[in-house]
Amino acid sequence: MSELQSKILKLLEDGQFHSGESLGERLGVSRTAVWKQLQKLEAIGLQLESVKGTGYRVPAGFELLDQQQIRDQIKVPAQLMPARLEIFQNIDSTNKYLRDRVDNPQYARSLVLSESQSGGRGRRGKTWVSPFAANIYLSALWDFERGAEALEGLSLAVGVAVRRALLEVGLSDVQLKWPNDIYIGRKKLGGILLEMLGDPAGYCSVVVGIGINVSMPSQAAAAIDQDWTDINSQLAQPISRNRLAAALISHILCLLDSFQASGFGPYRDEWQSADAFAGQLATVTTVRDAISGTVVGVDSGGALEMKLASGEIQRFIGGELSLRLAK
Ligand code: BTN
Repeated sequence: MSELQSKILKLLEDGQFHSGESLGERLGVSRTAVWKQLQKLEAIGLQLESVKGTGYRVPAGFELLDQQQIRDQIKVPAQLMPARLEIFQNIDSTNKYLRDRVDNPQYARSLVLSESQSGGRGRRGKTWVSPFAANIYLSALWDFERGAEALEGLSLAVGVAVRRALLEVGLSDVQLKWPNDIYIGRKKLGGILLEMLGDPAGYCSVVVGIGINVSMPSQAAAAIDQDWTDINSQLAQPISRNRLAAALISHILCLLDSFQASGFGPYRDEWQSADAFAGQLATVTTVRDAISGTVVGVDSGGALEMKLASGEIQRFIGGELSLRLAK
């Protein structure tokens, strides 16, 4: 992002109207130069309102992500403090960025945030709607020494860590939907995408991607194909994205560190206490078929346990499965 774009953004953060002329004057450039930059910002999802004769504003205002503010609020033991935390204005996908750097030792245990993503990815190949300065798009890279088997349940444990962060910043009734969706009142608030690289039997790296809707603009929301919610429609006061980013980072780093040693076990009860579908009739869709039953819970490896009509308990392992309430 150009220096001029960053300066324009700083001026628009207050949510007030600014004429093209006044923006130009304050920044020492022409109105046309300002207009060109505003167009580029709109193209990456900034929700800009323009009123003839009055100027431009971002209706509810916004808060840009700030490296220092985030670092100041991260609460982890010193040895877990991230050496590398990069913040982009726009990126293809924060997960892809770290995946592409998995062999670079400088990126070990690093974190990436972006104000927007042009190729944000969700589970099962879906697009993750990622407009500018509205939500949280965060990825973390972590190495594990004991192969894929030791990672059983990691995506569910990440859900527990994300839920802890959301409760800490003031949300309530945050639920988890197997394998790793974050729900409030039957609407999706966020999602987690884990990508594993390396040797499934030995040393491997995991990119943990987290997307949380904070203040989803209605235009961008039109592209979401399921019931969704965002943090600001759940709280009386808008939340600080910097504070939220710091809370997420703190809980994720502590989780990744402890998971290495103790796996999913210590998180299982907490996950089950937040299970959005516990005791309900639901359907698991696999590539081949759809299986319905009553959701019992998850086992110590994070597999879903479902009681079928026959009384038999069937287990499902995460991956590309989808779980929905039965109609
Ligand atoms: C889901 O489908 O529920 C998972 C969504 C994961 C989205 C996050 S946003 C940050 C990271 N970068 C991506 O491209 N995806 C993940």
